[in-house]
Amino acid sequence: MLTRPLWRPARAASAKNIHLRAARGLARLVSEPHGKTLAWCYNGLVPGPEIRVRQGERLRVIVENGLDEETTVHWHGVRLPNGMDGVPDLTQRPIGPGETFTYEFDAIDAGTFWYHPHQRSSEQVGRGLYGPLIVEEAKPVRIDRDVTWVLDDWRLTKSGAISDDFGNGHDMSHNGRVGNTVTINGRVPDTFAAQQGERIRLRLINAANARIFGLDFQGHEPMVIALDGQPVTPHAPDGGLVVLGPAMRADIVLDMTGEPGSQSAIIDRFYQGLEYQLIDLSYDAKPLRDRPPEWPMELPANPLPEPDIKNAVRHEVVFNGGMMGSMVMADMGGSMGDGSSDGMMGGMGSMMGMMHSGKIWFINGVAAEGHVMDPMLTLAGGRSYVLAMTNATAWHHPIHLHGHSFRVVTRNGQATTHREWQDTVLMAPRERVEIAFVADNPGDWMFHCHILEHQAAGMMGVIRVT
Ligand code: C2O
Ligand code: CU
Repeated sequence: MLTRPLWRPARAASAKNIHLRAARGLARLVSEPHGKTLAWCYNGLVPGPEIRVRQGERLRVIVENGLDEETTVHWHGVRLPNGMDGVPDLTQRPIGPGETFTYEFDAIDAGTFWYHPHQRSSEQVGRGLYGPLIVEEAKPVRIDRDVTWVLDDWRLTKSGAISDDFGNGHDMSHNGRVGNTVTINGRVPDTFAAQQGERIRLRLINAANARIFGLDFQGHEPMVIALDGQPVTPHAPDGGLVVLGPAMRADIVLDMTGEPGSQSAIIDRFYQGLEYQLIDLSYDAKPLRDRPPEWPMELPANPLPEPDIKNAVRHEVVFNGGMMGSMVMADMGGSMGDGSSDGMMGGMGSMMGMMHSGKIWFINGVAAEGHVMDPMLTLAGGRSYVLAMTNATAWHHPIHLHGHSFRVVTRNGQATTHREWQDTVLMAPRERVEIAFVADNPGDWMFHCHILEHQAAGMMGVIRVT
């Protein structure tokens, strides 16, 4: 076991200074002749600048708030000290307009992470505040090109402005703010140039409020080598689709096996009947090599503590609420959660009442209002835990835990093939998922759905690690 918490480095690493300024800006989401879109940006960019450090380096990020409202920055998936987690009122006082706040922490895990506000996330992230954080391995796998694609989904009006219907009741009680315009790195994509024989490490980040992606790389054989930043045994994605719920990441090795001069589309097939072409891979007339390289793909492991599942303490976690929630609850026995979910069972009248108060989604019967709340669970530091989670709703939910990565050990009672480490696990309607982890990072940590409208409407709790 660990003798010393990993986030306290043995040697004082010198910090890398990074400046981020959140403010309004113009982003070219859609190509000309359309105009630019008024967005909220870090350093005038959507996404914000790609922050890149080496594993073991210390980051010091000076965040300046140029918005008219409070903000924070959360380092999604990064295991860091609680005070640096960027959760308003819970881990820090929010950064007021004109104020600055300095985040400082060590990058203990290599991988693909991202950053975004945790203050009114639905609108702040939805207007463009997010950016990639890449922590490089000391010995990365060999590739020809390292490419980051931050995926986002916007709801734009006919004139190309961001529709300002944030937080409307329909989005909050259904599948969140799914938009009408998908961007890669802040731009409606057109083509991606590649060469036959080239090997690309593609880092996919889903920064959308609510859209789930299911990418089909038609004719190519993507190999997943990391999920949510954490290495996984290289494998072809289940059913051929790389599925990414909001906040999730996947690193894939993509061997460019198309013919010189050919074109090949990547299709997003997540929502049945709503498939669309995300981007075209466009092959150069000249090949790089005539067949894919045979370089190893396995990434070096990160220093994660292994949960002792046999002796782990188990907790049940039930998610409920949302439209058609009472039907699912009745089907599943109707006894999930505690008595306080009665409101959800009481027919449409009380459902509308709940929606009116903004309490639409519940974890173990409780709907959050803001980030400060009594912990739903208190975990003993250093102990192993299994959370047995039930999605008693009619909707998908990407469930995220701060400050830790967990192993996804079972789905509907079946052991998972890869026991993947994740920080955000996508749960299908009615699905049961067990996750396991060592509660080794002291503090109050958010545990919430990363469909940001669900989070805003109550699907959030606090897990305390002592
Ligand atoms: Cu990326 Cu609590 O969030
Ligand atoms: Cu959700």
